[in-house]
Amino acid sequence: MTLRDAQGNTVSTASRAALDASESALWRMMSFYGTPVDDLDAAVVADPAWLLPYLMKAGFLVSLTEPSLAGDAATLLEAAEPLAKHATLRERLHFDAVRRAARGDWQGASAAWGAILDAHPRDALALQWALLFDFYRGDAIALRQRVARVLPAWTADDALQPYVLGHHAFGLEESLRFDEAEAVGREALAASPRVPWAIHAVAHVMEMQGRHVEGAAWMAAWRPHWGVDNGFAGHLGWHEALFALESLDHARALAVFDGYLRAEANEITLQRVDAASLLWRLHLLGADVGDRWQRLLAGWPLDAAVAGHSAFNDIHALFALIGAGELDRAAAWVRTSLTMAARSGGEWNLGVSNDLAIPLMRGLLDFAHGRYDAAGEAIFPLPPIAARLGGSHAQRDVIDQTLLAIAARGGMKQAGRALLDERRQAKADTPLTDWWSRALAA
Ligand SMILES: [Fe+2]
Repeated sequence: MTLRDAQGNTVSTASRAALDASESALWRMMSFYGTPVDDLDAAVVADPAWLLPYLMKAGFLVSLTEPSLAGDAATLLEAAEPLAKHATLRERLHFDAVRRAARGDWQGASAAWGAILDAHPRDALALQWALLFDFYRGDAIALRQRVARVLPAWTADDALQPYVLGHHAFGLEESLRFDEAEAVGREALAASPRVPWAIHAVAHVMEMQGRHVEGAAWMAAWRPHWGVDNGFAGHLGWHEALFALESLDHARALAVFDGYLRAEANEITLQRVDAASLLWRLHLLGADVGDRWQRLLAGWPLDAAVAGHSAFNDIHALFALIGAGELDRAAAWVRTSLTMAARSGGEWNLGVSNDLAIPLMRGLLDFAHGRYDAAGEAIFPLPPIAARLGGSHAQRDVIDQTLLAIAARGGMKQAGRALLDERRQAKADTPLTDWWSRALAA
């Protein structure tokens, strides 16, 4: 008997138990509540001959951008290979997309999931992963268009529709369509409060518009839905800390750090990246962060095995090494990252590494050694093309703030003042903008 999932997509299993477990895993991936791995293992047990749960688990591991999990993902994809001939065409297309992502072809993977969505606009798994790799590639246009193209296929009676709206809100925000983004994010949360991605999208709007006081209240109000047993809590805590930083409330930012981003709470690099990003911003402001850099690095294996996979991750590791004052290790890490990017064969990351990581990392080393003109010359040209580094506008703002610090310390003052004027358009009256204004005037 052929089964269909809750969105009407045909699946190549006759096991209701396997399908239920895979649908629970999909919901966990979209909502971040719990881990999808247990559900996917249960789906494999219920129907060992069904391709999709293997792909979902492999894709989930790949989506964490964690080189140490690449071997497990490869093993799963190998085990899945003989099952493909019994799968539906849609499932086989997923297989192709996950394999592209696994070998570092992030653009090809996004496009492959996009092609699935053209034929199956209610394939929530394809949407989830296409958007994730759009995000990793900093492709704001794709983040918005991909959801817009499937939106008519989703109606309010579908349990996953609030999650689709959450994605829509974020794509609109990254496309700088803030009013629409906030309205759609709030619409998603009115349908279900358990959509952390929608809480996140509205937080991004508030961050981009300098609404830091309102943003802090927003995070506090929604904390019961994001702060407990949710895999996204670290990143949302990072957003809460950004609002505190915009108020120059360093103590509050550090308290949030200790609640959600402390070294002991970080299991994967994506979490360490947020921790490094926050500590680096505090470092630029001259704040005392205690031994948090050292504790962060103690749990962050930085060697050739993890280098060169994601320039975004490697640059944040460099922040940590410089922040901890380990400048020799920082220089060695830059060499390792760039060497491994060339060797490990991840097509997307190699391009980003060549175009962005080389000047940015070298500029950061110059900054660390007090060579502010050289740092400015390396980094000031980057913001117009920095989206390819991946992440959000808010995450890449760490580059702008580094440039303000370079200018405040004497490097390329005029460019720094122009950057500050640009910042004032969005965040005219925040204490942090005032702080940078005084720093550049000094
Ligand atoms: Fe974010």
